[in-house]
Amino acid sequence: MPEKSQASQRAAALRAEIERHNEAYYRDDAPTIPDAEYDKLFRELHALERQYPALLTPDSPTQRVGAAPLKAFAEHRHGVSMLSLNNAFEATEVDAFDQRVRDGLESIAAVDYAVEPKFDGLAISLSYQNGVFVRGATRGDGTTGEDVTPNLRTLRSLPLRLSGVGWPEFIEIRGEILLFKTAFLQLNARQRERGDKEFANPRNAAAGSLRQLDSRITASRPLSFFAYGIGAGAEHLTVKTHAELMDLLVGWGVPVAKERRVVHGAKGLLDYFEEIGKKRPTLPYDIDGVVYKVNKLSAQAQLGFVSRAPRFAIAHKFPAEEALTIVLGIDVQVGRTGAITPVARLQPVFVGGVTVTNATLHNEDEVRRKDVRIGDTVIVRRAGDVIPEVVAVVLEKRPTRDLFGGEPLNPPFAMPTRCPECDSAIEKGIDEAIARCSGGLFCPAQRKAAIIHFAARRAMDIEGLGDKLVDQLVDAGLVGSPADLYALSFETLSGLERMGEKSARNLLEAIEKSKQTSFARFIFSLGIRNVGESTARDLARHFGQLDQLLAADIEALQQVPDVGPVVAASLHSFFKASHHREIIERLRAAGVHWPESETNHDGAKLLIGKTLVLTGTLPTLKRDEAKAMIEAAGGKVAGSVSQKTDFVLAGEEAGSKLEKALALGVTVIDEAEFLKLLSQGV
Ligand code: IVH
Repeated sequence: MPEKSQASQRAAALRAEIERHNEAYYRDDAPTIPDAEYDKLFRELHALERQYPALLTPDSPTQRVGAAPLKAFAEHRHGVSMLSLNNAFEATEVDAFDQRVRDGLESIAAVDYAVEPKFDGLAISLSYQNGVFVRGATRGDGTTGEDVTPNLRTLRSLPLRLSGVGWPEFIEIRGEILLFKTAFLQLNARQRERGDKEFANPRNAAAGSLRQLDSRITASRPLSFFAYGIGAGAEHLTVKTHAELMDLLVGWGVPVAKERRVVHGAKGLLDYFEEIGKKRPTLPYDIDGVVYKVNKLSAQAQLGFVSRAPRFAIAHKFPAEEALTIVLGIDVQVGRTGAITPVARLQPVFVGGVTVTNATLHNEDEVRRKDVRIGDTVIVRRAGDVIPEVVAVVLEKRPTRDLFGGEPLNPPFAMPTRCPECDSAIEKGIDEAIARCSGGLFCPAQRKAAIIHFAARRAMDIEGLGDKLVDQLVDAGLVGSPADLYALSFETLSGLERMGEKSARNLLEAIEKSKQTSFARFIFSLGIRNVGESTARDLARHFGQLDQLLAADIEALQQVPDVGPVVAASLHSFFKASHHREIIERLRAAGVHWPESETNHDGAKLLIGKTLVLTGTLPTLKRDEAKAMIEAAGGKVAGSVSQKTDFVLAGEEAGSKLEKALALGVTVIDEAEFLKLLSQGV
C-alpha cells in the first residue's frame, strides 16, 4: 500500500485524469480511452479514498455515483435571483421586442443578439467556490430553491472543478438540466420492463430524476446539463458580450449549446427561429423555443428589468406540443391494409399549432398499457407533422362513481371483435401488436389499397390506373374489387370526370393487356399479407397451377422454400375466404391467364452449370423475374454471348446478342421454351 503522501498525490492525479476523460466523453463527445480503462482508474481512486478517507474531496469523480438518501431537501437561497423570461409567439411580438430594445438603447442601427435554443428541462443554479462545485439548487420561487447538490454531483457533464483560468472566487453558473431524447426512451423502456410508471416526456423524467432523495437513483439516470448564463460573480468578469461569456464558460469546461450564435437585427432573430425550428426534430434534446438576448452586456445593464423579467431578453416559443384534454370516446379505424387502430375522440384542443379532435392510441396493447378510458383527462401531443397521440392519462382526474376517489366510472378499453367497416372478424396473431380486419378485399376500407396494389407495375401492371383514378372508380361505386376492373366499359370510363376518350381507350387497352400475365405476378397481385414478390415466385414455381395452390393445406404450403408458419397461415386464411375465391374465379372468367407450366415439385436445380443470356422484351416475364428464376434453378445469367453461353433467351426486339448467338450457333429459346426448360430440365 502506498504511503499517505504518495496516496494523496496519486489520488489527485487520478482525479484530474478521470475528469479529463469525463469532459472528453460527455462534453466533447470524443472518448479518449476505452470504458474498461476508465473503470480501472475509477476503481483505483475509489480504493484509495476508502483507505484514506481524508483524501476524499468534494470534487472527486467518485462522488458521481450518488450518496446515502436524504430525508428532505434543504432550502437554498440564490446569491442572485433566478428570473424568468417574457414570451413571444408571433413574429410581430419579436419585432415589437426588437423595437423596444432599440428605443431603450436609443439605437437606430440594428442590434446584435446572442441567440440560443430554449432548453425544455429544468432551471438550475450551480455554485463554484474557488473553482470547485460546492452547491446546486433548483429555481424554486426564484429566490429560494431546493438544494440538490448530491444529485447534481452524479451528472457526468457537470464539472466538479472548473478548468482553465479566470474564474472568480465565487460564481453561480445558471443553466438547464435535461434528459436526452434517447436516454428518455431507454429510461422508459427500463421502467416498462420493471413494471414502473413511465414518464410522459423527457422534461418530466429529468425533473423526477433530479428531485430524488436518493442520489443513487439520479446516478442511474443519464441527466445532462447546459449552461446559458451566470448569477452571482458576474461583476468580477471582464467579458463584454454574452457570446464572450459563453466562450469563457466553454474554456472552464462547462457545456453550452452548440447551436448558439450572434445575429443581427429582427430579421436575424426570425431567421434563427426558422432554422432551429427545422433542426428541432434532429436535436438530441427537447427545446420549446429559442431565446434572444441583447449581446452587449453594457446594453443589457442599460435596459434592465421589468418586474421579474429582463427587458434585454425574450423567449420565442414554438406552439405548445402538449396539452390536456378529455377523451370523449374511443373508436377504431381500419387502415388501408386492414390494420385496426384505436383512436381517441377528444374534446377539441389547440396543440402544436392546430386544433386536434382525434389522437392515435396506436394499438390495443398501448391502450391497455396507458389504460386510457372514456372520460379520462389525457396529455395529447402533436409534434411537427406527426399524427397527434395520447401520451398519458392524468389519473388523478379520472372520474369515479363517487366523489371520494372510489371505483372508476368507465371500464378499461376492450377491442371490438368485428370490423366497423365490413363486420368481418377482427383477428390478431399471437405475438402481434396489430389487430386486423379479416375482410380483405371485401372491406371497403381495404378495397382501394387492394386495387392499387393489384394494378401496380410489379403486379398486374395496368398502366394509367393510379391512386386518383382508383379513388374515383371506387367512390362512384364502379369498382369494388380487382375483378370489376375487367368489366369496365368505354362508356363508363369516358363518362368519368377528367377522363378524356383517349385516356379511357388507353386504360381499357392496358386492362386488356394485363390479362396475359405470369402465375407469380397473379399471386403477388392478390395482396396477400406477408406474400411479397419473391414468395409469390416461389409459390408459382412450386405449385405450377392455381388449383393446386388453392387446394394446398398449411402443411403443403410450408413445403415451399422460405414459407414458414406465418406466411402459410396468411395464405391459407386468404384462400379459405369465400369472397377471395369468388374474386379469383371472376378474374379467371374475365380471361386473366398465364402459361401454365408443369410443376417442379422437388425444386430440383434444373439449370445447374448452365449460363443464359437475356435479350429483348419477353411477353410476360420481366427481365429481373426471368433472372431470379434462372438463378433459383441454379443457372447463371451472363451479360454477353460467348462460346460458353448455353442458351440465349430472346424476346421481342432482340438485337446484337441474338445475332451473335446465331453466329456462334448458341441455342436460342423463347419464353415458352424457357418455362418448359425450368419445369422439365434440359
Ligand atoms: S436565460 C434572466 N436562456 O427558460 C432569465 N433561459 O423563462 C435568464 N431556459 O426557467 C434565462 N433555455 O431555465 C435562458 N437558453 C436559455 C434558456 C433558458 C431554457 C429556461 C430557464 C428559465 C426559463 C425562463
